[in-house]
Amino acid sequence: ADVIETYVPLMNGDNFLGAFEIYYDITDRKSQLDDLLSKSSIVLFTLIVGLLFGIVIIFFKESKTTARQRSAEKALRESGERLHFLSSHLLTAQERERKRISLELHDELGQSLTVLKLQLRSIEKALNTEQSALKEDCEKTLQYVDQIIENVRRLSRDLSPSILEDLGLTAAIQWLIEDFGKHSTIKVDIDMPVLDNLFSDDAQIIIYRIFQEAFTNIGKHALADTVSVVVEETESSVHFMVQDDGKGFDIKQIEARYPTERSLGLLAMDERARMLDGQLLVHSRNGTGTRITFTVPIDSEKKQR
Ligand SMILES: Nc1ncnc2c1ncn2[C@@H]1O[C@H](COP(=O)(O)OP(=O)(O)OP(=O)(O)O)[C@@H](O)[C@H]1O
Ligand SMILES: [Mg+2]
Repeated sequence: ADVIETYVPLMNGDNFLGAFEIYYDITDRKSQLDDLLSKSSIVLFTLIVGLLFGIVIIFFKESKTTARQRSAEKALRESGERLHFLSSHLLTAQERERKRISLELHDELGQSLTVLKLQLRSIEKALNTEQSALKEDCEKTLQYVDQIIENVRRLSRDLSPSILEDLGLTAAIQWLIEDFGKHSTIKVDIDMPVLDNLFSDDAQIIIYRIFQEAFTNIGKHALADTVSVVVEETESSVHFMVQDDGKGFDIKQIEARYPTERSLGLLAMDERARMLDGQLLVHSRNGTGTRITFTVPIDSEKKQR
């Protein structure tokens, strides 16, 4: 039997008189307790096994979803990379084609128009004084031909800015801004160091195109009073900023448009910055104007060669 023994001494001052010994039989209670303990261990064991089982199932499911998620992410990343590869090739091909058409316009059409002009001049000279009406017609036609020549020149220059190759990026951007000023009342402040010889020809064209789109957008959409252009050169990169004080726009709204319904200007700007290993950011909000910044690492030119 299980017994608890308690010993109680009886004292009179320091003298020991005797003692009680109390025995308490706890057999029943102990067996009840043992019973309870074994039952609760069974419950505990079942709980632990259930929990472990649950954890294993969750872990298994989770790892399956993560694997699926990971492969979906990988596919997405790959298709994004393919898309960038494709669009950068398209932009390069477009640039090459523009250059070909520009040269064709300049060399072929421009040349023919000049020949036409010379012929008209000699006809005009051959006319005698009584044919003044015809002379006048000749003069008018000559002026008209001059206009066409000027338009062809402008078209050719817009298609492929030979000023880039002839005078470099700084002059080309300055020319672009001057030309913009001629066709609008918007004031432009420029703070730009000399950027020539920092980038390859291809990189220069890409930077020029980003500026061209930024200014076209300002002319088309911004309703601005002032534009500020700030270019800063650091040891490893060049930082460009074009900021207008116009009406601004909601970028989220534009980005939310379905890809095939989106306009191409901002997308192409972004893609071009990527082609230079750079990053382009557009800050804009309704009513607060628009700021476009992009940074181009100076090393990236090597890739463009
Ligand atoms: N500087 C700006 N100020 C105000 N709104 C702008 C500015 N730049 C762009 N936007 C807005 O963002 C939209 C998208 O610009 P994006 O250049 O992509 O297209 P787009 O100029 O309309 O057409 P395109 O494809 O010919 O460039 C514009 O339609 C315009 O609403
Ligand atoms: Mg545009």
